[in-house]
Amino acid sequence: MKSTRSFVILLCPMLVLGFLYYSAGRLQLRSPVQKTQPDLDSLRSTGRVVASVYDNQGFLHKLDGKLPLELQYKYGNLSKGECKPGFTEAKMTSIYPKFLKPAPMFLDKNFKRLSKISSYQPPFGVKTQEKIIDNILDGTKVYSLGSELDSMSCMRCIIIGNGGILSNKSLGSKIDEYDVVVRLNEAPVSGFEKDVGSKTTMRITYPEGTIQKLERYEKNSLFVLSAFKPVDFKWLRQIVYRDKMRKMEGFWKSVARVIPREPEEIRILNPYFIQEAAFKFIGLPHNNGVMGRGNIPTLGTVAITMALHNCDEVAVAGFGYDMSTPRAPLHYYEKLMMSAIKESWTHNISKEKEFLQKLVKGGVIQDLTGGI
Ligand SMILES: *[C@@H]1O[C@H](CO)[C@@H](O)[C@H](O)[C@H]1NC(C)=O
Ligand SMILES: *[C@@H]1O[C@H](CO)[C@@H](O)[C@H](O)[C@H]1NC(C)=O
Ligand SMILES: *[C@@H]1O[C@H](CO)[C@@H](O)[C@H](O)[C@H]1NC(C)=O
Repeated sequence: MKSTRSFVILLCPMLVLGFLYYSAGRLQLRSPVQKTQPDLDSLRSTGRVVASVYDNQGFLHKLDGKLPLELQYKYGNLSKGECKPGFTEAKMTSIYPKFLKPAPMFLDKNFKRLSKISSYQPPFGVKTQEKIIDNILDGTKVYSLGSELDSMSCMRCIIIGNGGILSNKSLGSKIDEYDVVVRLNEAPVSGFEKDVGSKTTMRITYPEGTIQKLERYEKNSLFVLSAFKPVDFKWLRQIVYRDKMRKMEGFWKSVARVIPREPEEIRILNPYFIQEAAFKFIGLPHNNGVMGRGNIPTLGTVAITMALHNCDEVAVAGFGYDMSTPRAPLHYYEKLMMSAIKESWTHNISKEKEFLQKLVKGGVIQDLTGGI
């Protein structure tokens, strides 16, 4: 009896020691694998080691921007400068294997079937706003880029940020060569053509960011709402149906009351891009899926996210704030200086920049002004 008990007492620590020894051995066996980084497929299959190859968001740590071999072959016969079909998706998938391309640019009458946005409220989804969105879409009737662009087999897009970094670089004619030129909020074209180009395919904005002076709108462009709060949809409905604008609460500055666009030229940006940028790409706080401190991506990053899903090649210009030069202009169209930028409650500029840098380093997007 006594000997059995002491045997059990002895056995326990030995089991513990044995287990520790065993796990230590396993760790040691695994560590050389991590150091030498053999081919990705074998690493993926071992599961646990993956953490060392991909960062928390799921992006490859090692980004060299080189074209994977299969792409070198695929695009090998294209002449230099020719549009490469599927390039953005292929590059994105090579640095971020979780990427799933299908995501429509704009909401259409089937938007309730988009499961990812139906369980989130604005700005991350459409929950609670289904009726008014349906109503707006009945008025706008058109939900695509338009027949000419829809029929292109390879589409190159450029997103124009509003940064002062665009000034004096004479990129205008280069920008105009892109099939789709996306501008944001009130960024002007007139008077700045030499640096920012003269073509505007679409202008993505939220109510507070819209151009208020009617004469400052370019002639042909789609007006695209990126809604951040429920009142934004209410506002758009009044714009589409030309209702007499009732006094509306809930905006943080005065908003335009008329947009010089036909209903057929108005679109609603798929809110999935806000959701994906915030929670998947940048890794902002989920906050139970509602707007909170530092969890809203900037409109520029939302537009880039849209382009990753919908364009064969993506370029950007005018992105990036150079904080080391506080006297440089913040925007290309006004005198406000860099030092005027305030600590933002809604955005997390530094985390967002990390994401954009991954896209540039990985060669997914091309940064014409080099500010990212
Ligand atoms: C490239 O061109 C060569 C010669 O015309 C052809 O044999 C090859 O299949 C082409 N490759 C691709 C990916 O189209
Ligand atoms: C751009 O050039 C103009 C005229 O040469 C100059 O006044 C302005 O300061 C320049 N802007 C920047 C951002 O360098
Ligand atoms: C931005 O993210 C960093 C790192 O997660 C965090 O420390 C910082 O507080 C965040 N800033 C804002 C404004 O939320």
